[in-house]
Amino acid sequence: MSYALGIDIGGSGVKGAPVDLEAGEFAADRLRIDTPAKSTPANVVKVVAEIVASFADTIGDAPVGVTIPAPVRHGVVPMIANLDKKWVNLEAEKFFSDELQRPVTIVNDADAAGVAEVRYGAAKGQRGVVIVTTLGTGIGSAVINDGVLLPNTELGHLEIDGFDAEKRAAASAKTREELSYKEWSKRLQRYYETLEQLFWPDLFVVGGGVSKQSDKFLPNLVLNTPIVPAKLRNSAGIIGAAVLAVEAVAARSADAPTHSHEDAVHEEAVQEEAAS
Ligand code: BGC
Repeated sequence: MSYALGIDIGGSGVKGAPVDLEAGEFAADRLRIDTPAKSTPANVVKVVAEIVASFADTIGDAPVGVTIPAPVRHGVVPMIANLDKKWVNLEAEKFFSDELQRPVTIVNDADAAGVAEVRYGAAKGQRGVVIVTTLGTGIGSAVINDGVLLPNTELGHLEIDGFDAEKRAAASAKTREELSYKEWSKRLQRYYETLEQLFWPDLFVVGGGVSKQSDKFLPNLVLNTPIVPAKLRNSAGIIGAAVLAVEAVAARSADAPTHSHEDAVHEEAVQEEAAS
């Protein structure tokens, strides 16, 4: 059985669990710790370290994947909307790997959730383009074509009718503005019809905590594209982080030179000597 540890950093909680990658399920109960009120990388990494330590016996040297609510380009965070601004320009992968003293893969939270839904959840077996959106504090997006992720799409920040889309249509906007499901559905309609006109996907999957209540808003949406609630919900980020960590480790070892230039020079010299 192959395992990896997935950890999902959110605005209110940091959650982690070892993941059984064949089944796409937690291999042990997840642990949740509140996100520090001052959500700087230095404060958050301490919580992540606590979670890693608590599963140390189960995971051994298995890969560790961590999600953050921000794009992550080759391990670096170019911008962040909903956590402390100290994350901006942080070499997050290096920082976390150094602090935890083991290789850590850092990925966008919605990308992780999307990969998990495509591999094990609501979009399993779907061909073509799937857009997974997470409705929470912000709006996260994952665009996946025939199982291949296009990372860091940030479609929550599309400008629609002059607004940053997530400010109008995230679940937090519903709470903040005390919108009824009917009122909020109008915002979601505008959001998803815009995505549809830009991407013509084959399927939308809607995740985030509020997807539990999807029967109160998804039936109100009139779209050409099927739109379904996420299946893995709260666990999608953790499971996807684990999957992406394993893929990153495999990619790193495929890239690593197995035969160095020095080895080749040495072998050539030995052969020449033998031939002379
Ligand atoms: C961030 C995304 C993130 C989403 C959901 C947005 O504000 O920019 O990176 O995926 O929130 O957390």
